Amino acid sequence: MCRRIFAKSHNFDKITSNSLEGDNLQYIDDSLKGKRILITGGAGFIGSNLALYFQKHHKDAEVVVFDSFRNETRWDNGNLKSLGHFKNLLDFRGEVIVGDITNKEDLSRLEERKFDYIFHQAAISDTTVQNQEAVLRANVNAYKDLLDLCVRQHSSMIYASSAGVYGNTPAPNSINSGEIPENVYGFSKLMMDHLTFKYLKNFPFLNIVGLRYFNVYGENELYKGKTASMILQLALQALKFKKVRLFKMGEQKRDFVYIQDVIAANVKAMKAKKSGVYNVGSGKARSYNDILDCLKVDLGEFEVEYIENPYKFFQAHTEANIILTEKFLDYQPRFSLEVGIKNYLSQIKAIHNDNLWDEVIGNNA
Ligand SMILES: NC(=O)c1ccc[n+]([C@@H]2O[C@H](COP(=O)([O-])OP(=O)(O)OC[C@H]3O[C@@H](n4cnc5c(N)ncnc54)[C@H](O)[C@@H]3O)[C@@H](O)[C@H]2O)c1
Repeated sequence: MCRRIFAKSHNFDKITSNSLEGDNLQYIDDSLKGKRILITGGAGFIGSNLALYFQKHHKDAEVVVFDSFRNETRWDNGNLKSLGHFKNLLDFRGEVIVGDITNKEDLSRLEERKFDYIFHQAAISDTTVQNQEAVLRANVNAYKDLLDLCVRQHSSMIYASSAGVYGNTPAPNSINSGEIPENVYGFSKLMMDHLTFKYLKNFPFLNIVGLRYFNVYGENELYKGKTASMILQLALQALKFKKVRLFKMGEQKRDFVYIQDVIAANVKAMKAKKSGVYNVGSGKARSYNDILDCLKVDLGEFEVEYIENPYKFFQAHTEANIILTEKFLDYQPRFSLEVGIKNYLSQIKAIHNDNLWDEVIGNNA
């Protein structure tokens, strides 16, 4: 039986398990008419959801996607170097620019127009990449170049930071506390946050909001392949093999946050009461066993095999303290794990039925 644990302090219980209410929500009153919005990493999971949100709810805004898209190059861990995919943007009607944020010539294509808002999602998002130079170049240096663009164009910057900055610090995770990353990815995001405060001090006219996403899951993450959320991977194992594998004993906890809540946080950040860095999670830690309980409600029983965890570094518990996000961004997570998974399952079943996962993992997609 799926455990229904709705946090009273959040609005989870406003959304019933059959509701897709979030799909039709416009998160701010402003129509954004005539505004120009740049989304770096717009062919990826979160960026494409953002692009499609603006297209649907702010029709008079101009949206430009800048992304390097995938090519054949890989990291030592075998994963593709960039994970963007044109299929995430099949319904997108705005302009697409292919470019690398670490390449000044590519970035110069952005100079000729004035963006009102930059949503910076492009990054090496694979947390297992060990190449420190590459991660810092793509995540930190390129962010600085984009901040300089904001200074020149007076654009507002909303960028993706990460819960990775907290490393193994005991939950709940709060801004300005326990920021001790355990890998270069987390370090790169922390350096982006420090750069943010430096720019806010030196250029007081700038609006900059950093969003430390926790574990995001939801529609359009297929093309992340092995770096996609455990929710997608466990659901597909259950559908295909009637059996899933979890690290012993499945009680490690994470703050899993549904994509629609992440999009709401980004959009509300456009009207932030204060620039700064904020946590974006559900505000509630849930275990991997909880995910299985939720899946079983819809998919029926399946077997669970608990295996030894081979990783030296594996967070035991993350949970976002979202008090500041609620106060300054007016952010309220709306989706419990139960409802987020239920919403997402129709796309997961389609992925399974069309054998898309095998195509992505076999690198034919
Ligand atoms: N998904 C999560 O759970 C999560 C959690 C914390 C933080 N984040 C951050 O959120 C952002 C978006 O993540 P995502 O999950 O959508 O990942 P993603 O990999 O699907 O999206 C990143 C996009 O950036 C593009 N990109 C990568 N390197 C680039 C470069 N040099 N130039 C131009 N484009 C480039 C990729 O092609 C891809 O489309 C990233 O900054 C990531 O670090 C994600």
